[in-house]
Amino acid sequence: MSTPKHSTHKGPSLARRASVALAPYASNTVAAVVLRFFLGGTMLYAGVDKALLDPRFLQADGVGSIGETLRYFVTSGGPLAGLVEAVALPQPVLIGASMAGAQLLAGASLLTGSWVRYGALLGAGISLSLALTSTWGVSPYYYGNDLPYFVGFLALAALGDGGALRLGAPAPRGHNPERRAALVSGTGVAAGIAVLLVLDRSRAVSMITGGGTPTPSPTPGASATSSASPTSSAPTAGTVISGAPSLAAGQALNFSAGGTDAVLIKDGSTYRAFERACTHAGTPVDWQEGSGDFLCSNHGARFSVTGQVTNPPANRPLRAIEVSVAADGTVTYRR
Ligand code: FES
Repeated sequence: MSTPKHSTHKGPSLARRASVALAPYASNTVAAVVLRFFLGGTMLYAGVDKALLDPRFLQADGVGSIGETLRYFVTSGGPLAGLVEAVALPQPVLIGASMAGAQLLAGASLLTGSWVRYGALLGAGISLSLALTSTWGVSPYYYGNDLPYFVGFLALAALGDGGALRLGAPAPRGHNPERRAALVSGTGVAAGIAVLLVLDRSRAVSMITGGGTPTPSPTPGASATSSASPTSSAPTAGTVISGAPSLAAGQALNFSAGGTDAVLIKDGSTYRAFERACTHAGTPVDWQEGSGDFLCSNHGARFSVTGQVTNPPANRPLRAIEVSVAADGTVTYRR
């Protein structure tokens, strides 16, 4: 009598199937396209931000201006401090415009796949000069963002354009899994950058709903804070900040502004609201009732009650959120 036979064949393992599915991604083409889209998208955004979105940047003086940034580079004591003082400081606006132009050029080169090695070397030069000035004093070094960008640009300069997704290149014939993988990865990175831009609400929202450009500071160095006092406001639509009316002068209240970590401070009889993200590297700042300012516990940046930087390494004010006070004392914010 024979016993029934059972098949012992189980098919390819999960690991094997995953490695087959991911095989097209294990190529220089995909690596180059991912680096091109991320680094190129970031350069383009940085250039557009400096040239168009931030009305303070191309100014010789004032918080957030290129002039103030260069002065910070000099005092930060990096290896290029002397060069910055001698060459850049006397002509800050020209230097700021050149920096924005170089970033736009590098971004366009990488995104379109044109002269990618040169674009990557330009990006590496920009990142290295910032690593030797802006983030030279950051310790440990891995908190500084310019060094990883420098290494990424060098890797891309070695890889080249990857041979895919180049503007104007002839379309390849037939099915090419490597090209398809590059297309999927490139689209994913571009979508990721788009999401990051949307999450950068104070600018993205103001560009979409605020009539085209963000509102500049009235004068260099003046407060860019949106504030409201009970006597000056008219009833406006907005989202109520619960608990605000019970705040005493000098007290702060953390709240969520449409998913963004925010803080409301009562400065005398005036309410001011800010995103809590430190403008150096994003750590939430905390209101210090004793000293009457905001402290970032990560690297020690401090911001005044109006959101202005009073202690580096941050060099931009906290991002303000518009608030208003109704006649009944209700405080609302608008984004
Ligand atoms: S994250 Fe560096 S000082 Fe705030």
